[in-house]
Amino acid sequence: MTAPLLSLSGVTAFYGAIQALKGVDLDVREGEIVTLIGANGAGKSTLMMTICGNPRARNGCIQYDGAEITGLPTHDIMRMRIAQSPEGRRVFPRMSVYENLQMGAQVTGGRDFAELLAQVYALFPRLQERAGQRGGTLSGGEQQMLAIGRALMSRPRLLLLDEPSLGLAPLVVRHIFGAIRALNRETGLTVLLVEQNAFQALRLAHRGYVLVNGAITMAGSGAELLGRPEIRAAYLEGSH
Ligand SMILES: Nc1ncnc2c1ncn2[C@@H]1O[C@H](COP(=O)(O)OP(=O)(O)OP(=O)(O)O)[C@@H](O)[C@H]1O
Ligand SMILES: [Mg+2]
Repeated sequence: MTAPLLSLSGVTAFYGAIQALKGVDLDVREGEIVTLIGANGAGKSTLMMTICGNPRARNGCIQYDGAEITGLPTHDIMRMRIAQSPEGRRVFPRMSVYENLQMGAQVTGGRDFAELLAQVYALFPRLQERAGQRGGTLSGGEQQMLAIGRALMSRPRLLLLDEPSLGLAPLVVRHIFGAIRALNRETGLTVLLVEQNAFQALRLAHRGYVLVNGAITMAGSGAELLGRPEIRAAYLEGSH
């Protein structure tokens, strides 16, 4: 079997004296959608950010595309076609939608800009309609589309999505999850997805991991995890 595209082994991370990751092992294979679920404060966002080098992993090893990236500066990691849509949809509020998308394309030096822009607009037509509007005045769902669109403008091989459904109406969530599935099927995009919305996220994913208090406690196919009574009790109760 080929090596995974992304592989974490024994990764720890700290904020001062607080240990947020306690030896995480996790693999993402090329072409997979992998979902990470866990309670508030479990360390999900920290895990995504540690892959991007901020905070740095203190122990353990992060490998991407066959090379070790542990300890590399964030801008070097971004150049390796890893794109992140962080929690809380951090769009540039004063820039227009179009300018936000331009920023996303910067890491690739603007190559294939028109083609990527057309792809993002096809995925999220609303962004094209609002191309001239300031990012900060978009609705929550539109800002989330923009955050994902901006990440896609760097033509990532690995897309890290931190809670894309946060605060969004069910219809918008369905649209965004549908877009992720389409990108994965049509372009082979590999996705690591963090979600509170465990039911939909596990249905979308090929595989999933459960993070509890900074450590992985369970892993399996999306269907397998959905079927487990302890997952249903802890993460799915009343969620659909
Ligand atoms: N910048 C920081 N400084 C100090 N502690 C932090 C910092 N960021 C996160 N933490 C702590 O690290 C732990 C993990 O936080 P993290 O944001 O990774 O959780 P999460 O699983 O993403 O939670 P949520 O579902 O609420 O987004 C928490 O206890 C949090 O308080
Ligand atoms: Mg988080």
